[in-house]
Amino acid sequence: MVRYSKGAFREVLRDYNVDIAYTPMILADVFKSSEFARQDYTTNDKDCPVVVQFAAHDPADLAHAAQIVAPFADGIDLNCGCPQKWAYKEKIGAYLSDRPEIVHEMVRAVKAAVNIPCSVKIRKHPTDIRQTIELVRRAQMMGVDWITVHGRTRHQKSTEPVDYESIRLVKESVDVPVLANGGIFDISDADTMYEKTGVDGVMAARGLLQNPALFAGYKHTPLDCVEKYVNRALAYGTPTPILHHHIMYMMESQMSSVERRYIAGVKTILEASGLQHTMHDSGTNFQGDYALVSEVVQQCMESVLENGAPRVLCYVKLGARTDKNYQNEIPAADKVRNFLESSTK
Ligand SMILES: Cc1cc2nc3c(=O)[nH]c(=O)nc-3n(C[C@H](O)[C@H](O)[C@H](O)COP(=O)(O)O)c2cc1C
Repeated sequence: MVRYSKGAFREVLRDYNVDIAYTPMILADVFKSSEFARQDYTTNDKDCPVVVQFAAHDPADLAHAAQIVAPFADGIDLNCGCPQKWAYKEKIGAYLSDRPEIVHEMVRAVKAAVNIPCSVKIRKHPTDIRQTIELVRRAQMMGVDWITVHGRTRHQKSTEPVDYESIRLVKESVDVPVLANGGIFDISDADTMYEKTGVDGVMAARGLLQNPALFAGYKHTPLDCVEKYVNRALAYGTPTPILHHHIMYMMESQMSSVERRYIAGVKTILEASGLQHTMHDSGTNFQGDYALVSEVVQQCMESVLENGAPRVLCYVKLGARTDKNYQNEIPAADKVRNFLESSTK
């Protein structure tokens, strides 16, 4: 997921029964030619298996990008489903839905260039499912290792129901494993998907943003999952806005709208707790005390769940001192510590 499925998040997912995690979509042509763009992909020994997803139009670009990343990846995925207008103009993503010949060439190029598996992620064709079948068959002919199919067209909203029948047709048209995507928010959604389509696996996106522990059977994000994510995100230098979005997604279903508004201010505590927090264009260089920030977030969440919003308001007040006008008043780390101690008595 663009912006979200970065290393820290992928690592947390693996603690909760996710078997394979994908990177956000990366533009192959930019990746192959820009050192700066390549820095955006980071991984480690625990990030396994990881599939690096590229968007591409030109087989040579894709093969080149795949070669660069192959020593640090377990698979390459070609995005043939991104519905965004800018992507369509660039002739990538869902533009490829009815260009099986281009997909065919790109799979061929990757298979010739690298020795790790190659998959494609597609959407159902907007008008003619035969185009989808043709696309997956041609990809199979070129040696694609598995196919993921999202059961909505590029014109459909993500709130619309997925079309199980199209996914089932894809599954029946090829011999390689097929994963189904769309509308999986809990285990029972996954079971329904398996039953109705006969697929070999399922992929979730928004469901995991909201509850990274969904495949471990949790109905809502457990607090230890929030804490794990915060710790890893801080350790890996995740930019603060992304960290904050993740926290919001993970906690959203458990909060009232008033609580959500309060929690929206929590990010300021991460920036303002006096922990020598420095911001750069490319993200955050955190030099403070991970355990402390994680403790602040954890306590904040617990307090929202147990007591409603008022205590969070206190955090927001502290955090409000990030405002430029109050720069000299940024509270020191021990001030936050004292605050935590007194508020838990
Ligand atoms: C924030 C966000 C970012 C996404 N980024 C990507 C991406 O980088 N690559 C991709 O193939 N799909 C991406 N998607 C689409 C999802 O992979 C998935 O196909 C879609 O959300 C339907 O699945 P869901 O109902 O489980 O969310 C993204 C979706 C969301 C909500």
